[in-house]
Amino acid sequence: MQTNQVLPVDPAKVSKKTLYTGAKIPAVGLGTFGSDNYNANTIADAVEQAIRLGYRHIDCASVYGNEKEIGAAIAKVIKEGVVTREELWITSKVWNDSHRRVAESARKSLKDLQLDYLDLYLVHWPFPNFHAPKVDVDSRDPNAKPYIHEDYMQTWRAMEKLVDEGLVRHIGTSNMTVSKLELLLRDCRIKPACNEMEMHPHFQQQALFDFVTQNGIVAIGYCPIGSPNRPERDKTADDTVPIEDPVIVAIAQAHGIHPAVVCIKWAVQNGQIPIPFSVKPEKYMSNLRATTEDPLTEYEMKAIQAIDRNCRFIKGQVFTWEGATWEDLWKD
Ligand SMILES: NC(=O)c1ccc[n+]([C@@H]2O[C@H](COP(=O)([O-])OP(=O)(O)OC[C@H]3O[C@@H](n4cnc5c(N)ncnc54)[C@H](OP(=O)(O)O)[C@@H]3O)[C@@H](O)[C@H]2O)c1
Repeated sequence: MQTNQVLPVDPAKVSKKTLYTGAKIPAVGLGTFGSDNYNANTIADAVEQAIRLGYRHIDCASVYGNEKEIGAAIAKVIKEGVVTREELWITSKVWNDSHRRVAESARKSLKDLQLDYLDLYLVHWPFPNFHAPKVDVDSRDPNAKPYIHEDYMQTWRAMEKLVDEGLVRHIGTSNMTVSKLELLLRDCRIKPACNEMEMHPHFQQQALFDFVTQNGIVAIGYCPIGSPNRPERDKTADDTVPIEDPVIVAIAQAHGIHPAVVCIKWAVQNGQIPIPFSVKPEKYMSNLRATTEDPLTEYEMKAIQAIDRNCRFIKGQVFTWEGATWEDLWKD
């Protein structure tokens, strides 16, 4: 496999965040959602190579349709002695159509990923629904439902059971709001360790970020670069482009790095864990290296804080129920 002479990063140099259990999670992970652009084998090859070059944290999900291929890649590097299972942090997620089949879904991910346990298992979205992969944003599931706390708690009880059984070490949430998390924190037996949420310079979600942090939950930031190559169907006329923001571009020029890498540095220094995606070694390694050298100054951090545009890219249109708009998904 070609590495284009991309230099490895010593995983010991990548900082870690401590979860409320005391477990440590690497401060940057590799995303594995290929959108329409990359197939499962290409992404699995990137995971294999990324681990060889120093990545220890991989963000997976059953709905990404590539856990089997990624599992083979992970098994290969473990077998070759590149890394041990304990040195890796592997996340997976239960999809919206499986809220009543959490155990089955987790076991399938474990089997596909060829693992005995997951480090983190997330409820991907708090809304149960079904839709075929790659559907248009206008597609709706007639059976889609809004957030119903009792239903979510039934899903969460099944998540807690996975921890009891040792199949997953931590459980967490994704695409939540403060009010939904308040209900969950009131009623859970095992608290979420992480909340995965969209976070980039144009969508900083300060209130939600502060809420999770104050409650001892670590924020994992998805689309940290603003997902510039997401499919056209997921873009709207109002969407901004964080890596084209003059503030980000100027900071990138000052450091001699790509604007994407500025986004990663900002994320880590701000306190969330970014999970940038790329299958290109020069890109994903510059994202990992971002955390080990040449930090942004306090002035630059403040300048980025000031360019929040409250611009959500992953709106979730297809998950809406009858009569709802995507904004309703995020209201309370
Ligand atoms: N929990 C959820 O609901 C949820 C939702 C969305 C995403 N996620 C997770 O978050 C991950 C990341 O999100 P994302 O892929 O949508 O967005 P992203 O990481 O913000 O953007 C990825 C894009 O940025 C480009 N890129 C990456 N590193 C770069 C660099 N150093 N220089 C220049 N360009 C760079 C890549 O270009 P190339 O294509 O050229 O490599 C890729 O297309 C996903 O893979 C998935 O694991 C979770």
